[in-house]
Amino acid sequence: MVDSQTDVLKGLENVPIKYTSLSSIDGQQGKLYYVGYAIEDLVEHSSYEEVCFLLLNRRLPTRDELQRYEGSFRRERELPNDVFGFLKKFPRDAPLISVLRAGVDLLALYDEEVEKTDPARNHSIAIRIISRMATLLAASYRLKQGLDPVPPAPDLQHAANFLYMATGRRPTPLESRIMDVAFILHAEHELPASTTAALVVASTLSDLYSAVSAGIGALKGPLHGGANERALEMLFAIGDPDKAEQYINAELAAKRRIMGFGHRVYKSFDPRALIFKNYLKKLADVKSDWTLLRTAEKVEELMVAKMKDKSIFPNIDLYSGPVFHLLGLNREIFTPIFAVARAVGWIAHVLEYWEDNRLIRPRAVYNGPPPRQYVPLDQR
Ligand code: CMC
Repeated sequence: MVDSQTDVLKGLENVPIKYTSLSSIDGQQGKLYYVGYAIEDLVEHSSYEEVCFLLLNRRLPTRDELQRYEGSFRRERELPNDVFGFLKKFPRDAPLISVLRAGVDLLALYDEEVEKTDPARNHSIAIRIISRMATLLAASYRLKQGLDPVPPAPDLQHAANFLYMATGRRPTPLESRIMDVAFILHAEHELPASTTAALVVASTLSDLYSAVSAGIGALKGPLHGGANERALEMLFAIGDPDKAEQYINAELAAKRRIMGFGHRVYKSFDPRALIFKNYLKKLADVKSDWTLLRTAEKVEELMVAKMKDKSIFPNIDLYSGPVFHLLGLNREIFTPIFAVARAVGWIAHVLEYWEDNRLIRPRAVYNGPPPRQYVPLDQR
């Protein structure tokens, strides 16, 4: 038994559970690197497929390798026919993130390689999961709205194709670029709750689909991936930058959290929020629709000033919602997009962990009654 005086590390704060070369976060300086490359550089120069290659191979691809990689993403876009049949039967009012989780479990049933533990196959299974999840989400999103799924467009890259399949409209070059940026920004982030959940599952030597499914379950919550939908709801509820102060004061007085703010690791600006804000400006200019941008900026200004002592700054979820909204997407798809883009991070961590696997099995400090006599049912 663990000594009852042992301190419990609530929320596993600052508890290292693995080595990684995948990403590093400097929470004080607001810096994020994937395999040593600054997120700003990756957003500027890379595509999502290139970032997937980087995370799964821990190096950048050559031009030929990238071309072949993009080809394998394209080849894996189609869903097995039977999966469509099941998707059509899912209840229309089920949360889309839960539909995605159930859909990933379905995909596992139709992947003949899933139970093969040969590490050489893991890379191809990874691409299949990442690529199919995008089609699965876009199709489920449309079916929920009573619309027919849109088949993939062979000439579009992963993120642009996802946007096309979800909206049924070919994205403009700016929209394609922004979707690609959004996927890159969500691809990896060290060990948040979802990646940890994926690792716990994988450490039992379960399979990649099970790990991804666990990641989706953890991401769903409002303290993690679910914050982007709620941050947009908040911006709509505020409605106008002039009403932001009254709203924020009332929420803070009621001890409610402001969605899209705060982070376990960042104690300054989340660099992803700054990048998203920049793209939101570009999109707002093109759409001549600045209300969400201005409201979010006002909330940011107020929160940074009010919460200085607690080092609370905007996180990725404050500005991602308005960006997705201006791309023509409904709120219910925001958290699932996070999941679809993050699948690569979950899988990359699992593959890295499996290179030196150890079962994750922490302890609890018992604080219940001491051993005692069992009382039979009729004597209670
Ligand atoms: N609004 C108001 N107060 C906050 C907020 C917020 N968004 N976040 C933290 N605080 C306060 C909190 O009340 C606490 O105050 P006190 O010490 O007086 O009790 C203090 O800051 C520390 O909070 P904590 O809950 O101990 O911090 P944590 O590291 O456990 O939680 C968090 C991190 C992200 C769960 C939290 O900041 C939060 O709930 N944020 C809102 C939800 C959100 O935006 N989540 C997205 C996170 S980033 C994307 C992702 O990776 O999923």
